Amino acid sequence: MIIPRPTELTLHPGRFVIGPDLHLDAGPGTEQAAELLAGYLGRGRARSAAGPRIELSLSPGTTPDHAAGTPTAGTPAAGNQSADNQGYTLRIRPDLVTLASPGVAGLLNGVQTLRQLLPPAALDPANAGPQDWWWPCADVRDRPRLAWRGALLDVARHFLPLEFLYRFVDELALHKLNVFQLHLNDDQGWRIEIDGLPRLTEVGAWRAESALGPGGQMPGNGTPHGGYYTQAELRGLVSYARVRGVSVVPEITMPGHARAVLAAYPELGNHPERTLPVWTNWGISEDILAASDQALDFGRQVLAQTMDVFPSRYVHIGGDECPTVQWQRSPQARERARQLGLGSPAELHGWFLRQLQEFLARGGRRAMAWDEKGYAAEAPLSGMVLSAWRDPAHGALAVARGHQVVMTPHLSTYFDYPQTDDPAEPQGQPGGTVTLADVYAFDPLAGGLPAADPAGDAGPGVLGTQAALWTEYAPTPEHVTYLTYPRLCALAEVAWTDGPRDFAEFRGRLDHHRKRLGALGVAPRRPRPMADRSPALRHPGTMDR
Ligand code: ACM
Repeated sequence: MIIPRPTELTLHPGRFVIGPDLHLDAGPGTEQAAELLAGYLGRGRARSAAGPRIELSLSPGTTPDHAAGTPTAGTPAAGNQSADNQGYTLRIRPDLVTLASPGVAGLLNGVQTLRQLLPPAALDPANAGPQDWWWPCADVRDRPRLAWRGALLDVARHFLPLEFLYRFVDELALHKLNVFQLHLNDDQGWRIEIDGLPRLTEVGAWRAESALGPGGQMPGNGTPHGGYYTQAELRGLVSYARVRGVSVVPEITMPGHARAVLAAYPELGNHPERTLPVWTNWGISEDILAASDQALDFGRQVLAQTMDVFPSRYVHIGGDECPTVQWQRSPQARERARQLGLGSPAELHGWFLRQLQEFLARGGRRAMAWDEKGYAAEAPLSGMVLSAWRDPAHGALAVARGHQVVMTPHLSTYFDYPQTDDPAEPQGQPGGTVTLADVYAFDPLAGGLPAADPAGDAGPGVLGTQAALWTEYAPTPEHVTYLTYPRLCALAEVAWTDGPRDFAEFRGRLDHHRKRLGALGVAPRRPRPMADRSPALRHPGTMDR
């Protein structure tokens, strides 16, 4: 009944009963996984050195890391570990549980399997006291198909409370998802405090209202909306996620999607004389950053602080949906393109991103960008990891051009599309429906694409796959949760489980898994359509001003 389905699981007769005491035998380097397990098994339990034993160990010798004598103890920089280091073996007998992996990331995955092998009620925080929970005797050998298994949350279109982000991290970990991409800015809001640029959050984090539907001309709901996270809050989130094996990858999108930046600092745009409000519509804006030294310096200043808050190996710089008409019209941009020897001002798009990529590389980070027409197809951004969000064929093309790619094709992994064509579904992103079956049928390696190993600077291929929760039409945590489930469970299995998949069999496991989610308080409910909600209820739980 485990989701994602393990590579091999054999059940045996008998059980390991977890009594009032917890006999945890944590080998060197396994302390983090032991602490996580102890936390899950209930604070009411005393640690003891008697009784049935749970033994955790880092098993030697199976990975290059170990051969080189540098076990991956300590911080598992998830999304940055080879699939081998994320695998584990688990043996459960009546008097002994052994969990072993070459890497801490693998131990943490094994802990999640142990958690799912408990009765679902054991996941309910209200049942934290020492009850006689048990595990069935079993042997598990497990390893992910893909190293990068992620979900993106757009906190720019709608600000979501910090507590929700913590819960989201917990839910990612439960599903052995190891990357949480946080989309921190967009036309409709800036969400990370930046020292020295106070207007980003004083001005850029707030908008007057939100459009009630797609397109550029929909009426607004009349309700101001906004919010932002302090750097201290985000550091706390990063630590919480790290302990659970989840790497938080920040996204600061540039040079398009810039209306919130330009509302705060019009001088960074192509029309410094114009002060535009933070955008209240959804869609693609022509207002982008200038191709100027000042705008690049802004980008570097923001990215320097972003790197400081987020230790992830990868930093996403967006790059998508960037119309270049303002550059085409701008004498300064045209002159810059000429000086750089570019064929047209449109090519400043790739140039701008490469400047930021180099800056991140000097900080020891790998830049990521959306695979986008305009730069990725014509002029590969060498060394950049691309998020392939259009059709899978674009991802395959990026791999062929030498990129490492995270496959996130919209018609399989964008959970802002309605999940059924039932007319009672709330307003979603127009243009598609992404059903549970669509997600489950998705193969990130379709056509024989190679899986890429994130350890070291290995060659081109598919690092993994990722869900995207864009929030134009999802104003509340409850709405986001509704869009997330059960599609995220399917995506987790797509990312983790190798070999043939059977949708009917998955649905059977999902029925049991819903009990776990219920015990955790994850109760997806279909929201009422936006227009039905009274103004006071439009954004419950968010920080309306
Ligand atoms: C995207 O959906 N524009 C990345």
